[in-house]
Amino acid sequence: MQIRENISLRQYNTFGIDVRARYFASFARIEEIEEWIERNSSVMRVILGGGSNLLFTRNIDGVVLKNEIMGIEEITEDEHDVYVRAGAGENWHRFVQHCLTRNWAGLENLSLIPGNVGAAPMQNIGAYGVELQEVFNSLSAYHIRERKIHHFTAGDCAFGYRESIFKKQYKNQFIILNVTFRLRKRPVFHTAYGAIREELEKMQVKELSIQAISQAVINIRSSKLPDPSQIGNAGSFFKNPEVSNKKFEMLKKQYPEIPHYPAKVYPNATRVTTNEVKLAAGWLIEQCGWKGVRRGNAGVHAKQALVLVNYGNATGKEIYELSEDVVRSVHKKFGVTLEREVNIL
Ligand code: EPU
Repeated sequence: MQIRENISLRQYNTFGIDVRARYFASFARIEEIEEWIERNSSVMRVILGGGSNLLFTRNIDGVVLKNEIMGIEEITEDEHDVYVRAGAGENWHRFVQHCLTRNWAGLENLSLIPGNVGAAPMQNIGAYGVELQEVFNSLSAYHIRERKIHHFTAGDCAFGYRESIFKKQYKNQFIILNVTFRLRKRPVFHTAYGAIREELEKMQVKELSIQAISQAVINIRSSKLPDPSQIGNAGSFFKNPEVSNKKFEMLKKQYPEIPHYPAKVYPNATRVTTNEVKLAAGWLIEQCGWKGVRRGNAGVHAKQALVLVNYGNATGKEIYELSEDVVRSVHKKFGVTLEREVNIL
């Protein structure tokens, strides 16, 4: 393994924050880094995937290990499903496209999500009515201290809303090596969410297919979400907050048009919420007047207030401070506390 020193992380995070790592190395097999980690166990470690869900607020006085474990492999199949294993370092959207070309269904609604395969179960990625947990079969992860590979089923991962055990109890303890997906040979279409149907109509799709849904999702995402290669961002900066029925009724009296959805129940999640109603953080933020606001190089995206952006040379601190002000004003106006979805480092 080649360890490089004093490396800029700008190209390794989609926010485009220019912090430096004291040490940096990428690995394609866990064996390449095992020994170094053991010999340098006191050095602080950051395991990096696509860098699309984090905000660097300071230099990393330790080692950044970039997971580049590749490979996509069909493991087995039965009458209904095909089991496909992908290396944690595979780009998520390229993996989705690989499956689409083979007509393996289930990932189409998750098209164009930035990041790598390994991060998908980490935070149970979701979009347009589908979450990773619905296509997840299992994963292998390396336990850093034990130097052993563990196998996780869906139940073991304790999936929640943008959560899993790897963001909670097992934080920083495991390196996800590969993920096995269970995909369908015959598709079940999910078109009820948001603007998908409208977009399919606009596209004049005659016969529904997973490829058409994927294209509809790509169109919607590209029209609302900034492309990280053009303007730094990490997708939704906050989670959509969940509130009790009682709180929701109070808000609805004052804001009859407030968007809301039933909160999803996650039976295996580490933190089981008892709140019944999910609100749209983007709407709450917009109502506070933040949409399109720019402060120096940091800003709230003009088309989707849930996304914070780096217009150029923003520091992580600037973005973070902006997010603090957003949290404060949403709390002041609505009495709702926004939680960050992005990992802050
Ligand atoms: N809204 C506004 N103003 C805004 C943004 C949204 O009023 O500036 C309203 C919309 O009109 C709509 C509601 O809020 O009524 C929900 O908006 P949208 O459908 O755009 O989705 P979202 O709740 O803001 C979530 C995910 C996204 C995912 C989309 C589509 C979270 C935190 N975000 O956003 O995921 O792509 O749904 O399924 O759950 C991500 O996690 O990084 C991400 C982009």
